[in-house]
Amino acid sequence: MRSQRSLSRTFVRGAVGVGMLPVLLGATLAPAAAGERGRVPDHVVEQRVHKALDRYGLRDVAPRDLEIGTAVAGGGHHLEQDYPDPFTYDQPYREALAREFSSLSPENQAKWEFIHPEQDRYDFAAMDAIVEFAQRHGQVVRGHTLLWHSQNPEWLTEGDFTPEELRAILKDHIQTVVGRYAGKIQQWDVANEVFTDGPNPTLRPENIWISALGPGIIADAFRWAHEADPEAKLFLNDYAVDDIGAKSDAYYALSQELLAQGVPLHGFATQAHLSFEYPFPSTLEENLQRFDDLGLETAITELDVRMPLGENGRPTAEQLAQQADWYQWALEACLGVEDCNSFTIWGFNDKYSWVPVFFEGTGAANVMFEDYTRKPAYWALAVTLAKARWLGVR
Ligand code: XIL
Repeated sequence: MRSQRSLSRTFVRGAVGVGMLPVLLGATLAPAAAGERGRVPDHVVEQRVHKALDRYGLRDVAPRDLEIGTAVAGGGHHLEQDYPDPFTYDQPYREALAREFSSLSPENQAKWEFIHPEQDRYDFAAMDAIVEFAQRHGQVVRGHTLLWHSQNPEWLTEGDFTPEELRAILKDHIQTVVGRYAGKIQQWDVANEVFTDGPNPTLRPENIWISALGPGIIADAFRWAHEADPEAKLFLNDYAVDDIGAKSDAYYALSQELLAQGVPLHGFATQAHLSFEYPFPSTLEENLQRFDDLGLETAITELDVRMPLGENGRPTAEQLAQQADWYQWALEACLGVEDCNSFTIWGFNDKYSWVPVFFEGTGAANVMFEDYTRKPAYWALAVTLAKARWLGVR
């Protein structure tokens, strides 16, 4: 599904933007974009991007067909931390959220246990606030998530429901939640983490929907979501599916099956929770490309890059440099695949990261330090985005 775009067309698209940024970047890089690519040395591009990012955010230097997103911190592990709800109370956080990103993902606020805490009661307040914020700041939203084995409320997991009852509960939930935000959500992670890990992935036995209702419930979830919001792009989403391998193969087969049945599946997303404990997923682009070739959109939805931290809890300069490379490589993989149009990092500030809570002894996984100063990884993303936008890489 790759079509060649001409460099000049890309440049023209870049140059017609509003505000000062096109002048700062587009015009100064224009000769390269118009056919003298490579003339502007990398360090000059970098200087200009740094200057532009004094006033603008990542969203302003991103190619126009790529949403650059973050998880919106709240709920989940934050509830046990010694700070109030970040999205509601941290003003610098809100400013960075609005300035830097064009896409927002509720980190926990649309999960079952938050949005549907009792059988007969939905609590939309937190998700409403995110959607409203996004609309006010010209951002899209990724809905997360509808059919998952985790973070389900006790009334559901302990409910002792018959299969018929469970089916009705899921249908009602999807229609209610997706319907409420219809027209305001760009992409929904309809099914999250449905496969097990290891060499022979199977559908997860601990997924209450699949175990009670069989694999066909995945197709139904997509159908119900599509009925409730025909505009939203509907995704499969999982971790450890960055590389080509047994688990992503399982998704490839499932995608083919769903598409053959005419199920409204529109995308495949890899979370990309990366760690220095393992090598960088070197087949990431190739993997996304094969789903793109099926006619699906692709997305990176939860990127973070964690590392072991010593006594002082601070990353070394070498670790920060390696982290910058990994963020850049992940972004380049997405930029290399035509319909990879959404690139989301799982939080941007180390202060609010889920990583130290879930992966003990590791941390520093995000692109900003706790005081909002920007890491090499932030600049690697900024420069890579700007080059893609103004030098016609994409
Ligand atoms: C995590 C959140 O970041 C935490 O706040 C929460 O305590 C647990 O879940 N895959 C997913 C995300 O799909 O929903 C998870 O988010 C991270 C792994």
